[in-house]
Amino acid sequence: MHRARVAASVLRLVSVVGVVVLGHTAEASTKMQTQAFGKTAGGQAVTLYTLSNAKGMEAAIIDFGATVVSLKVPDRKKQAGDVVLGYDDVAGYENGKAYFGATIGRYGNRIAHGAFAIDGKTYHVPKNDGDNSLHGGVQGFNKRMWKAKDVSTSAGQALELTYVSKDGEEGYPGTLSVKVTYTLPADRNELRIDYSATTDKDTVLNLTNHSYFNLAGEGNGDILQHQLTLHASKFTPVDQTLIPTGELQPVANMPFDFTKAVAIGARINQDDQQLKFGRGYDHNWVLDRKPGSPISLVAEAYEPQTGRVLQVLTTEPGIQFYSGNFLDGTIHGKGGKVYGHRGAFCLETQHFPDSPNHANFPSTVLKPGARYSTRTIFRFSTR
Ligand code: GLA
Repeated sequence: MHRARVAASVLRLVSVVGVVVLGHTAEASTKMQTQAFGKTAGGQAVTLYTLSNAKGMEAAIIDFGATVVSLKVPDRKKQAGDVVLGYDDVAGYENGKAYFGATIGRYGNRIAHGAFAIDGKTYHVPKNDGDNSLHGGVQGFNKRMWKAKDVSTSAGQALELTYVSKDGEEGYPGTLSVKVTYTLPADRNELRIDYSATTDKDTVLNLTNHSYFNLAGEGNGDILQHQLTLHASKFTPVDQTLIPTGELQPVANMPFDFTKAVAIGARINQDDQQLKFGRGYDHNWVLDRKPGSPISLVAEAYEPQTGRVLQVLTTEPGIQFYSGNFLDGTIHGKGGKVYGHRGAFCLETQHFPDSPNHANFPSTVLKPGARYSTRTIFRFSTR
């Protein structure tokens, strides 16, 4: 408060003297905070970057895994609450198997039998999910150290994270230079994620963020009362190992129809084979958006007690809605909180699972000379 008043009078003074430093002062008064977050088992120092704005939102991110550690957003009564699951220390993120908040790559979601072919050559990637490869393999992007840089402007605080994935890393071809930029705009409560990448050999790429949301606050019970809307009239049904069959199936008259807001828990335990395979929702929806069209609203979740609303906007063709079915109360998260069954949900914007093995799905191939570029926004409000 006091500091703000001082800043304001400095500003008045400066404008009286006629020096134009307005942009500069605005930036300086909203500086990103950095603090040590501990060390990896291998001794690398991890840093926590906290982005904030004057609208009451705060996003904390670490360079390990380019991971979102906390997202504090106001509720209906303007009370801030942390709406994502996470851990208190690096060890949690290093040893954890749940991918809390992490950047997932090279390939978000599953690749059947850990194999795919590009240009007639077969590549093998780690089978870390039964017979399939999940989320980039054993040491995916979520387990790597990224290089961080503050790229804030007067429009908002922003953190750029870069990583160079070596040719052959986790079995994937090509040296891949990846950049993930998190932006918290000064004037609205949203976390924008810009992904960009280039390669020196033909490869496949499917980046996403694996935040686990509970709009009532992390650790505050299950998410079954959240009302969910997905702007998707089809989904990609799966086999029992969660690999798509290749069909695009209409959701009409199924518990997969979220085209109108409905509680996540309303149909989750129905006697439905797809729900059994997923142990709940763990499926990819085919978004009703035209390929190449500008970023659009694809999902919305509303939590009735707190009034918090999360809107998801993306340039991607699909979204994995995962209802936290593998959470079973064994994980102790931030502040020692126990994360129980279905204690959070994920909305992972993406290309469809196992696309490299499905010629009818939008392609995930990235070629030298081309730039991978996608954007996803998690936008918060209340109702
Ligand atoms: C994704 C997968 C799920 C599960 C979670 C992490 O959402 O689709 O099956 O692996 O990640 O537990």
